[in-house]
Amino acid sequence: MAQILVTGGAGYIGSHTAKRLASAGFETVVLDNLSTGHRDFARWGAFVQGDIADGELLDRLFTSRTIDAVVHFAAASQVGESVREPLRYYRNNVAGTVSLLSAMRRHGVETLVFSSTCAVYGPPFDVLLTEDHPSAPISPYAKSKRMMEDVMEDMGRAGCLRHVALRYFNAAGADPEAEVGERHNPETHLIPLVLQAALGQREALSIFGDDYDTPDGTAIRDYIHVQDLADAHILALRHLQKGGAPGAFNLGNGQGHSVRQIIDAAREVTGRDIPTRMAPRREGDSPRLVGDASKARRVLGWNPQLADIRRIIETAWAWHKNETSFTPTR
Ligand SMILES: NC(=O)c1ccc[n+]([C@@H]2O[C@H](COP(=O)([O-])OP(=O)(O)OC[C@H]3O[C@@H](n4cnc5c(N)ncnc54)[C@H](O)[C@@H]3O)[C@@H](O)[C@H]2O)c1
Repeated sequence: MAQILVTGGAGYIGSHTAKRLASAGFETVVLDNLSTGHRDFARWGAFVQGDIADGELLDRLFTSRTIDAVVHFAAASQVGESVREPLRYYRNNVAGTVSLLSAMRRHGVETLVFSSTCAVYGPPFDVLLTEDHPSAPISPYAKSKRMMEDVMEDMGRAGCLRHVALRYFNAAGADPEAEVGERHNPETHLIPLVLQAALGQREALSIFGDDYDTPDGTAIRDYIHVQDLADAHILALRHLQKGGAPGAFNLGNGQGHSVRQIIDAAREVTGRDIPTRMAPRREGDSPRLVGDASKARRVLGWNPQLADIRRIIETAWAWHKNETSFTPTR
């Protein structure tokens, strides 16, 4: 049976997607170098430890298996680190992805679903962002994603790739069965940071800026459940396999929640105190990023099931409460 290659399938979103692919009847092989991923997250399908930059490994993989399509999560994805170490991002996310695309080309694999990001969008931010909103990525991380979207579009025009770029808003939550969840270290995402503060694993949660032009002064984001993201990948694969048009799709709930609203919701869900402290704005953070995902709903038939922010936090809380063996170092 043909397999789906899941690069980065030992990471947060990749592992949830591998699980959903398996339950939808797909055979998968995860390729992950475990730089930020976890071996115990790669529990669905086959696992190969290795790097997308390793052309010989990719040749062996594509020769020894029948790979139908690639779902490509593997990337470095910390915005702040990308500002400090841009080359690392261009090497891993751009050169690494070009290596993967080259191997696909050598072996005649033409179908790809790619993890992109809402960070490709530029101002104005006080509107619902649609796919044709002006693109103006700021960080090397976001630029690396935008560059790869351009490469994929060019390959599509040349007739050698059919791809969907999924522009995620803020991935959040955990597998409702708590078999996998979010385990980044360092953690930079708000909801796990809030829950680690609730668990006493962090002294206090830093709120970066309360002087934004938003109702409570803190930044607003669109949180989307990781399982809903996972399901969008399956729909994107089916769309491409049916001959659907390539392109970019936003994945978000279309609802903004401020940092303070997330903290309040987390206090309610956990029943715990969440100590906070104020910190200056972080460079490059926009005041508001909320997406219009009507194209994904219309074209892919995507219908997020876990959109409620409390439900998102509840699933994350169920996961983090049981992560007793994991201690965040930063
Ligand atoms: N988490 C979010 O909110 C979010 C938002 C927008 C886009 N994204 C994108 O989604 C994808 C997955 O994000 P995540 O949060 O699951 O991150 P993650 O760090 O948990 O997962 C990335 C995985 O890729 C692996 N990897 C990295 N470089 C590799 C390489 N060269 N070869 C093989 N494996 C490699 C890592 O070991 C890890 O398992 C990334 O491409 C990220 O940029 C994430």
